Amino acid sequence: MLPPSMQTPLFGKRVLVGVGGSIAAYRACDVVRRLRELGAIVRVAPTRAAAAFVTPMTFEALSGMTCLGGVLDVAHGRIPHVEEAHASDLVLVCAATADLMAKMAHGLADEALLATLLAFPGPVVVAPAMESHMWSHAATQANVATLRSRGVHLVGPVEGVLASGRSGAGRMAPVDDLVEAAAWAVCDKDLAGTQLVITAGPTVEDLDPVRFLSNRSSGRMGLALAVQAARRGAQVSLVHGPLRIAVPAVPGLTPIAVRSAAEMHEETTKRAARSDAAILCAAVADARPRTLAKTKLKKSKGELTRVELVPTRDILADLGAARKKKKAKRPVLVGFAAETGEVLAYARGKLAHKGCDLICANDVGEAGSGFDVDTNRMLLVWPTEERWLPHASKDEVAWHILDEVKALVARTTRRR
Ligand code: PMT
Repeated sequence: MLPPSMQTPLFGKRVLVGVGGSIAAYRACDVVRRLRELGAIVRVAPTRAAAAFVTPMTFEALSGMTCLGGVLDVAHGRIPHVEEAHASDLVLVCAATADLMAKMAHGLADEALLATLLAFPGPVVVAPAMESHMWSHAATQANVATLRSRGVHLVGPVEGVLASGRSGAGRMAPVDDLVEAAAWAVCDKDLAGTQLVITAGPTVEDLDPVRFLSNRSSGRMGLALAVQAARRGAQVSLVHGPLRIAVPAVPGLTPIAVRSAAEMHEETTKRAARSDAAILCAAVADARPRTLAKTKLKKSKGELTRVELVPTRDILADLGAARKKKKAKRPVLVGFAAETGEVLAYARGKLAHKGCDLICANDVGEAGSGFDVDTNRMLLVWPTEERWLPHASKDEVAWHILDEVKALVARTTRRR
């Protein structure tokens, strides 16, 4: 079992939430609550202006800690902003006003939050919130560029209704996106520089305007791989069919939505050519209707029982064949196998037949494994060995698989 820190990267991490004087300050309350739910130790540093919108007492009740006070609150020889800078793993500034970002860009320190940021060498995530004209103003954009050049990660702002009642760019990003950016920011980037293409979910093969062929894949396993890989610093193209769950906004993760096996083939193949590894977790339809009827097929005319199916192209086998033809080692190819019994024998067959480096096989007949559940039990099969992973959350299983992908990519790098 992995330590909780690997399942939820924020577990045990100390996060300083800086809050600026904006209407959006009230949404910082939700951020604090969600970070704590994920196991983070949270302290809030409201600016003086923020305290006019949300009282420090509210933040103290939600965080379970006193708020970081003024810069001059030195007591018993302890300097709070210096101590906080040493103790924190991450500073997340939400809502960041134009004024607060300007002060950050210019190194001002007239608030405890700003003084802490100057003393803090770790990751900083900033969520701007302001009127759209303030956001697009050349001064703000110059400050944004300065902050980005120093490694500050900005989330949003997004388009939407603003405090003035007008619509435009300037609304603070959704709480989920801020929490995901925080999780990303505290993870070790051991996959930095790695390009991955990952497939997830089912494909859908349309029969007529109302019916289709598909399967029970929810996309959870593929999404777990994509999210964990992006958190670890990889650049991930996630080619996915219709999913039952939303794709979170993780830096480095680019979702590409497709519907059919043919679309997934096209989008995956063109990205695989420039990837270090392709991880094909999608449950791709093996067959599709030969023709797509323009009008609804009539049961009464027997049209539904005469649907002719033709095989789809096998993405993984085609990638394996293309690599073999070029006598290349890249991309590393990782396939999945959904089996019901005789998992090892079928997985070995697929490994050889599809020409891949690793097959991750799950027994989809087993309770708590395979389709549309949050857990999985995987058998990893290489050409000369195999190993069962413990039954665990899909996030944890994904973590182990990515360790193996990392090792395979490193091996091909050494061979080049
Ligand atoms: O999405 P979840 O609900 O979380 O469920 C996860 C899962 C059960 C879908 C996943 O763990 C899994 O097993 N994925 C592979 C499902 C599958 O289609 O297996 P397969 O044995 O039919 O295919 C073998 C491999 O060939 C797979 O890597 C598949 O992506 C690939 N393939 C198959 C057909 C095709 N036309 N092209 C392909 O690339």
